[in-house]
Amino acid sequence: MNNFQSVEALFKPFEIGNLKLSNRIMMAPMTRNFSPNGVPGEDVAAYYRRRAENGVGLIVTEGTFINHRDVVSDQENVPHIYGEDALNGWSRVVDGVHEVGGKIFSQIWHMGARGNVNDYSKQEITELVEAFEQAAANAKKVGFDGIEIMAAHGFLIDQFFWKKTNTRTDEYGGDLVDRTRFASEVIAACRRAVGPEFPIVLRISQWKYDAYTAKLVETPEQLKRFLTPLVDAGADIFHASIRRFWEPAFEGSELNLSGWIKKLTGKPTITVGSVGLEGADFVDFFATGEEANGKANKMGDLIERLEREEFDFIAVGRALLADPDWVNKIRDGRTEELLPFTREALNTLY
Ligand SMILES: Cc1cc2nc3c(=O)[nH]c(=O)nc-3n(C[C@H](O)[C@H](O)[C@H](O)COP(=O)(O)O)c2cc1C
Repeated sequence: MNNFQSVEALFKPFEIGNLKLSNRIMMAPMTRNFSPNGVPGEDVAAYYRRRAENGVGLIVTEGTFINHRDVVSDQENVPHIYGEDALNGWSRVVDGVHEVGGKIFSQIWHMGARGNVNDYSKQEITELVEAFEQAAANAKKVGFDGIEIMAAHGFLIDQFFWKKTNTRTDEYGGDLVDRTRFASEVIAACRRAVGPEFPIVLRISQWKYDAYTAKLVETPEQLKRFLTPLVDAGADIFHASIRRFWEPAFEGSELNLSGWIKKLTGKPTITVGSVGLEGADFVDFFATGEEANGKANKMGDLIERLEREEFDFIAVGRALLADPDWVNKIRDGRTEELLPFTREALNTLY
C-alpha cells in the first residue's frame, strides 16, 4: 500500500483537441546529450518507448534545436528538429512510442546566445520566428502529437520576456506586454504551421537558469496581462516550470504558478518540480543533477491539488529519468521500490 490516499486522480484520462491522453502523468523535457551530431538514434528511441510502455501518459522530449543555432546552442549531442537525419531519427522515436500506445510532444527551443536580446536585428528576429515555424512543421510532419515551445529558464524567448535581458527600444521591447511580442509571433507562426487542432504547449518560468530568484511578474494582475497575448496568439496549454510544486506563486494563496495560470486563463496547465523526490533541492541540474531519494514525498499534497483541479497534468523529470517504471510503481503503491535519482543516472540512457 502507498502512504498517501487514492491515486485515482492521476489516472483519469484527458482530452485536448483531438488528442486523448490516458492519464495525467507527463515526462518532463530533459536534455540527455545522447544524440551525436544532433541525430537521435536507436538508444534514444528505446529510452522514450520504455517510458511510454510503462504508463507515462505524455512524453515531452528533451529540448531540440531549431535551425538557427547560436553560440551557446553549439552542443553536438543535443538533438535537432531539422535536417533529414535528425527527422528520420525522430520519426523512429515517435513510431516506437505510438506502437506501445504512448503520446509524445517535441520540445522546440533556442537557447539564446548573447546574454541579452538587444543586438538582434529585425532581420534576425524574422529568421528566428521562421526557424520556430519550420521546427513546428517538422515536428508535425514526423508524427509528433504536439509541440512544446520552450519559453522558460532564461533561454531565447524568456530573454525577450525579462526586462533585465531585454532593454530594446523598438516594438520587441518596452513594458511587460510589449516584451511578449516575440513569443506571440513565434506562437502564431507555429500555429500557422500546424493548424488549429495540433496542441501547442508554452513552457514559461519566473526563474532563470542563472538567476533562481528572478521574477517576470510580481502579482496575479501582472500575470494576467502577460498571459493574455500568449493565449491570443494560440497557446493551448501552459507548462509552468517551478522547482517545487508545492510553492505558492504569490502571497495570500496556496496556488502554485500553474494553478494561477489555469485560474486566470481557463487553459489546461502542467505543473512540475520535485515530484516523487526528497531532498531534491537542485542548483544546477543541467550540469550535474542533484542526488535525491526516490520517495513519494508530498504525493498526497500533489494528488489533492490535482483533485481540486488546480492544474491538469503533472510533469515528472528526474524521478522518471532514474526509474522508467515510476508510473506503475506509483499506481500500484510500490513506493518502496522507487529508484533514487543519482548523478550516475545521467550517464546512461536507460
Ligand atoms: C538532466 C536534465 C535536463 C533537463 N533539460 C531540460 C530541457 O531540455 N528543457 C526543459 O524545458 N527543461 C529541462 N530540464 C528541467 C526539467 O524539465 C524539470 O523542469 C526539472 O527537472 C524539475 O522537475 P523534477 O524535479 O521532476 O526533476 C532538465 C532537467 C534535468 C534534470
